[in-house]
Amino acid sequence: MLVTAQTVLAQKVLPPPEMKLEALPLRSVDPDDNVSTPAKVELGRLLFFDPILSATKKVACATCHHPDYGWADGRATPLGVGGKGIGPRRLPMKTEGIGILVRNTPGLLNVAFNGLVSGQDYDPKKAPMFLDVRESGLEAQLFHPIRMQAEMRGNDCPESQAVDQMVVRVSAVEEYREKFTKIFSEEKPEGKEGEVTAEKVAAVIAAFERSLLANNAPFDRFMRGDKAAMNVQQLRGLKTYEKAGCVHCHGGPMFSDFKLHFIDVTGTGRDDRQAMRTPTLRNLRYTAPYLHHGRKRTLDEVMVFYEKLMDAAAEVIDGGAETDPPFDPLLKHLHLEAEDFADVLAFLDALNDETWDKSVPERVPSGLKVGGE
Ligand code: HEC
Ligand code: HEC
Repeated sequence: MLVTAQTVLAQKVLPPPEMKLEALPLRSVDPDDNVSTPAKVELGRLLFFDPILSATKKVACATCHHPDYGWADGRATPLGVGGKGIGPRRLPMKTEGIGILVRNTPGLLNVAFNGLVSGQDYDPKKAPMFLDVRESGLEAQLFHPIRMQAEMRGNDCPESQAVDQMVVRVSAVEEYREKFTKIFSEEKPEGKEGEVTAEKVAAVIAAFERSLLANNAPFDRFMRGDKAAMNVQQLRGLKTYEKAGCVHCHGGPMFSDFKLHFIDVTGTGRDDRQAMRTPTLRNLRYTAPYLHHGRKRTLDEVMVFYEKLMDAAAEVIDGGAETDPPFDPLLKHLHLEAEDFADVLAFLDALNDETWDKSVPERVPSGLKVGGE
């Protein structure tokens, strides 16, 4: 059949050069106006774990991005101001008018490399943020959870004042004022260096996030020349992974093209027809459950999803039927059989780097509970 012949041809199309599989760089790239220093990273860490950032003083960034869960939360979808506890044991509280969050929390390991693809210049200010890529750069991203009612704002603070009030709360803590003054007076000796501003809070938290690297997985060591770093099954898995066509979307050093694709992941309602950004496949061992709705508990379940998707996509793409939005045309390159699962999973395991920073500060300057309630 002609259509099938075309599909077979299409499957032989090589992925574009920016999807070339590579080791991650050893260091992250800072924006010109926010060069990282150890002092910034440490101040950023304190703020990240300090619930003073939330209007309710109960939710920290670390409530949802915790090192015990690969800097995510181990939950299908998170609970912000409407919850109590940590990780999968966090329980909902009766909180007036707080909507539930519908997207799985992404882990923050290697978020410093969001947007990095092979052979192109990297601009950290343009780094795509969120599953729908609605923001760019870490310095801009963090105002979203601070403003969002269900994440960190709650009911008692109007959205338009969320950021200003956060700055007021942080400035009221003397230890924070001192630390900001010290860091920013060294950077800019003239001007109002003592003042705590939203931009400075963003700068140090972004510097901290850029320090959360996991760039020394067996795959990275193998690509840098240590031929013993990957075992026989993982090496076979690498070939299978390329043959299966995963690399057309999950390619480049981050195993993501950082583009939006519609691959028909249904289940939560609101996002069912939404194209999503290709997630990285690095460090998946630490960030279960999977997919934007967090309804796949294991990578095996994700493999089964893809095997079924392949059949559905072939029917739709070859058969000329249409979905709304249309299936991503790159799914034509998908070629995954059940007997490939074990090898692909062995390869994905070579993308885990156990050596990342899991440290939690013993105390935070506000005196509130580290990591929130
Ligand atoms: C209530 C849980 C919750 C809290 C609190 C929270 N986040 Fe998130 N975070 C999420 C979820 C869910 C997403 C994905 C949302 C989406 O894509 O629409 C996300 C996305 C992100 C991303 C984008 C990652 C990527 O690869 O696109 C960064 C960076 C981030 N959060 C940092 C922070 C920082 C910094 C704070 C504190 C100021 C914070 N988060 C507070 C749940 C949370
Ligand atoms: C057409 C582009 C495309 C192709 C081809 C593709 N993926 Fe994906 N992948 C995505 C997108 C987009 C998502 C996120 C979908 C969502 O959550 O709605 C995803 C999600 C995933 C996840 C879940 C990651 C997480 O953190 O939740 C895994 C694992 C995965 N893909 C593995 C694979 C494997 C293995 C292959 C090859 C058999 C493959 N993908 C082929 C685009 C693609």
